[in-house]
Amino acid sequence: MTGQARLWWQDGIVYQIYPRSYQDSNGDGIGDLPGIESRLDYLVALGVDAIWISPFYPSPMADFGYDVADYIGVDPIFGTLADLDKLIEAVHAKGLKLILDFVPNHSSDQHSWFLESRSSRENPKRDWYLWRDGKADGGYPNNWMSNFGGPGWTWDEGTQQFYYHSFLKEQPDLNWHNPEVRAAIYDSMRFWLDKGVDGFRMDVLWLLIKDPEFRDNLPNPEWRPGESSFWSVLPTYTADQPETHVIVAEMRAVLDKYEQRVLIGEIYLPLPELVRYYGVAENGQLDGAQMPFNFRLIQTDWNADKIAALIHEYEGVLPPGAWPNWVMGNHDQPRIATRIGVDQARAAAMLLLTLRGTPTVYYGEELGMLNGRISPEQVQDPAEKNQPGIGMGRDPERTPMLWDASAGGGFTTEVPWLPLNAERGTVNVAGELEEPRSMLALYRRLIELRRMHPALHAGEIHDVRSKRGVLAYTRSVPGSENRFQVLLNLSHEVQTVTCDHGHIVLTTIMDGAGSPVGGPVVIEVGEGLLIQLN
Ligand code: NOJ
Repeated sequence: MTGQARLWWQDGIVYQIYPRSYQDSNGDGIGDLPGIESRLDYLVALGVDAIWISPFYPSPMADFGYDVADYIGVDPIFGTLADLDKLIEAVHAKGLKLILDFVPNHSSDQHSWFLESRSSRENPKRDWYLWRDGKADGGYPNNWMSNFGGPGWTWDEGTQQFYYHSFLKEQPDLNWHNPEVRAAIYDSMRFWLDKGVDGFRMDVLWLLIKDPEFRDNLPNPEWRPGESSFWSVLPTYTADQPETHVIVAEMRAVLDKYEQRVLIGEIYLPLPELVRYYGVAENGQLDGAQMPFNFRLIQTDWNADKIAALIHEYEGVLPPGAWPNWVMGNHDQPRIATRIGVDQARAAAMLLLTLRGTPTVYYGEELGMLNGRISPEQVQDPAEKNQPGIGMGRDPERTPMLWDASAGGGFTTEVPWLPLNAERGTVNVAGELEEPRSMLALYRRLIELRRMHPALHAGEIHDVRSKRGVLAYTRSVPGSENRFQVLLNLSHEVQTVTCDHGHIVLTTIMDGAGSPVGGPVVIEVGEGLLIQLN
């Protein structure tokens, strides 16, 4: 702890909602804002502090809302602006916070800004996007690729130039070198901040600025045919450009005009580069994102040695004054229970909720939801449609929340936009609330303990080590007797390890609480022990 006052986003837990998939309130098979409002009591009982909602802005839905046609509205699929106002009020009345997803890198090609920009080369908004002539032979301006496969450049017949898009051709990239673009986006941010939203999760924050000279990216020697064409070149000139940090500081300054708002960045970078997004210290306070999302638990092999090394590395590179954070899943990544198995997913829950740093929980993980099975005719995600069969699709982790075992899963009364998961008979909120050792019960207890004990939500982390596949660490607040040890068997065998003296507060199997321990202890596969030390 720094000795400074703690802020809500440091002590709290963030819960991500993919709005299409959370709760349908009007029988169109797609989740919506009133649906989310109707489930707030569930979130309060779960014990999370803030909800982050993936985009609900007006959108042609080419990338399911990450193609924004109006930064200050609500798409009719999700409701109205009045519904959003009501949601903000309801969220706050329940003591929760609301974080919006904001997509500054690109708009929809149907945004009025882009329609103007593409209308003529002389249009005042021409420079709001990245327009270039082709090569003399008519080829693309350079070798920049789209994250969703294929070249990142699309030809505009009307004005005889190419425009750049990091993602779909329906998602043209804004030109962040242009001060008018910056001002327009900051105005849109203020629109929501004035309404009382508590922060933003900024989409692809590390991609905002591209090389002003449009130099070719360097070839990627490790790329093999059959992998996404995006990785055929390295993002040398299209990602993590130095000027991005200027923009992040500007965004932070917009938020800092308000009380207690948080800037979260979606950033997939190695840790030394990632932590630079905390910014630099200005008057004793870092001026960047308060939470550059740390996705390394998603990217690291499920192995005690590697995760121990990861914790050491992350703690070691955090700049002074930076508060850590950990993410275990999101709407772009396979579900944790599918990736590492249901037993290990219980250990993952204990890990996420006992590490030092703000945890972000993706909806449905608290139930142990698996990846949905999506047949080729059911595919919705453009990432899968563009490059089928190579594992790019994200529909499996976006299937509807499982509220009960009924035909519509309690999510909808009609046909859901993605099929409900096969495991819904046993993996669902209603059933798990009845089952004292369910994944949901485990999450609720872990969250309760994290909230209750300063050592767990605000304390230091020490003695991080791994032995025979068991990850161990302690959490404590200096000067307090209240100390915990966490032991997690991430291996595929039952292990016996030595633990310090104390008593069991919780095991992931949810037995044995209160039992004294000290010395050799047997841990089942995927089991975690939370021990209060003497
Ligand atoms: C990152 C988002 O998380 C992802 O879902 C989206 O497709 C891209 N950004 C493009 O906005």
